[in-house]
Amino acid sequence: MAHEVKGVVARSKGAPVTVETIIVPDPGPGEAVVDVQACGVCATDLHYREGNINDEFPFLLGHEAAGLVSAVGAGVTDVAVGDYVVLNWRAVCGECRACRKGELQYCFNTHNATQKMTLADGTELSPALGIGAFVEKTLVHSGQCTKVDPAAPPTAAGLLGCGVMAGVGAAINTGAVQRGESVAVFGCGGVGDAAIAGAKLAGATTIIAVDIDDRKLEWARQMGATHTVNSKNTDAVEAIKGHTGGFGVDVAIDAVGHPAVFEQAFYARDLAGRVVLVGVPTPDMTIELPLIEVFGRGGAVKSSWYGDCLPSRDFPMLIDLYLQGRFPLDQFVTEAVGLDDVEEAFDNLRQGEVLRSVVVLDK
Ligand SMILES: NC(=O)c1ccc[n+]([C@@H]2O[C@H](COP(=O)([O-])OP(=O)(O)OC[C@H]3O[C@@H](n4cnc5c(N)ncnc54)[C@H](O)[C@@H]3O)[C@@H](O)[C@H]2O)c1
Ligand SMILES: [Zn+2]
Ligand SMILES: [Zn+2]
Repeated sequence: MAHEVKGVVARSKGAPVTVETIIVPDPGPGEAVVDVQACGVCATDLHYREGNINDEFPFLLGHEAAGLVSAVGAGVTDVAVGDYVVLNWRAVCGECRACRKGELQYCFNTHNATQKMTLADGTELSPALGIGAFVEKTLVHSGQCTKVDPAAPPTAAGLLGCGVMAGVGAAINTGAVQRGESVAVFGCGGVGDAAIAGAKLAGATTIIAVDIDDRKLEWARQMGATHTVNSKNTDAVEAIKGHTGGFGVDVAIDAVGHPAVFEQAFYARDLAGRVVLVGVPTPDMTIELPLIEVFGRGGAVKSSWYGDCLPSRDFPMLIDLYLQGRFPLDQFVTEAVGLDDVEEAFDNLRQGEVLRSVVVLDK
């Protein structure tokens, strides 16, 4: 029997989100229904609401979630009712070009639920990143459910489902930060701070946080930044060179997704360094760089989707490190809010008031 639950919907470009009745079908073959316990508010949800991702309104927002599997469809063997899971948006297919090469972290054909969740009038919803988790129950593909240790509270664990994983992975997977290296992270929101925590985990000895907001820089220090630069009033590239013997960093991570910031990251790295773009630009943004600089500096310019993570490998690993006190997941949670508060949480995110607001479902 289908369930009627409450969820947060973006109906049209730029319009404030509304809490609506959502119809969640019983899981079909390969699908699972998850009772969402907590779901972080990510900048990407705001990108959806602004129409920056695509025009497939209405969206069911939310995608950084943890919860309990409450039903599974035919043929599901990887998860069972009662399992505690973090939802992921990389349910590897095993068959696409990337998977066949053994590069599962680039899977081009992520599994999602086949059935649609709808509004009460039958209008089909587009779930954000194929998840949709600002809702009491959500329907996903079973491969989108990654089991983790239930000792980790859902407010913290859910954050691995997107922003924190994207940031950590940008550092340890895409950027492949090594012990003793220097790293600069531009933009110290949830994603950038996770990149800082990831760089620390990987053993970087110089970690330079760059932001235009002093409060964010203070939080970045608590995550492991060894130096901070407010790029509103300082030349970030020069400051970073100053902290690295005049050379620039081994790895420069743009966690904003803006041409001016990308350019700073590009010029702030040492010869043969790596630039990683993990912030999401809007479709109208362009960048012009002297090709001789792209060539002459060597190294790599990479983008990082979801931190090139493999959820089955990386989520349980980060949860274990968290439970051992070696990864500061709790520090990302600034406030717990209810389903009715997502619009306010967007305002707080835009104004830099929070790292993460987390929607808690029984709040
Ligand atoms: N690649 C992925 O898989 C992935 C996953 C999740 C989020 N993202 C993207 O990552 C980006 C960051 O997300 P977030 O949740 O951390 O957002 P956020 O709003 O919390 O953080 C952005 C930070 O950038 C800072 N900033 C803004 N302009 C700046 C500038 N010119 N120079 C330096 N700092 C500046 C802000 O002060 C803020 O601290 C977004 O674009 C989001 O869509 C990407
Ligand atoms: Zn694949
Ligand atoms: Zn996200």
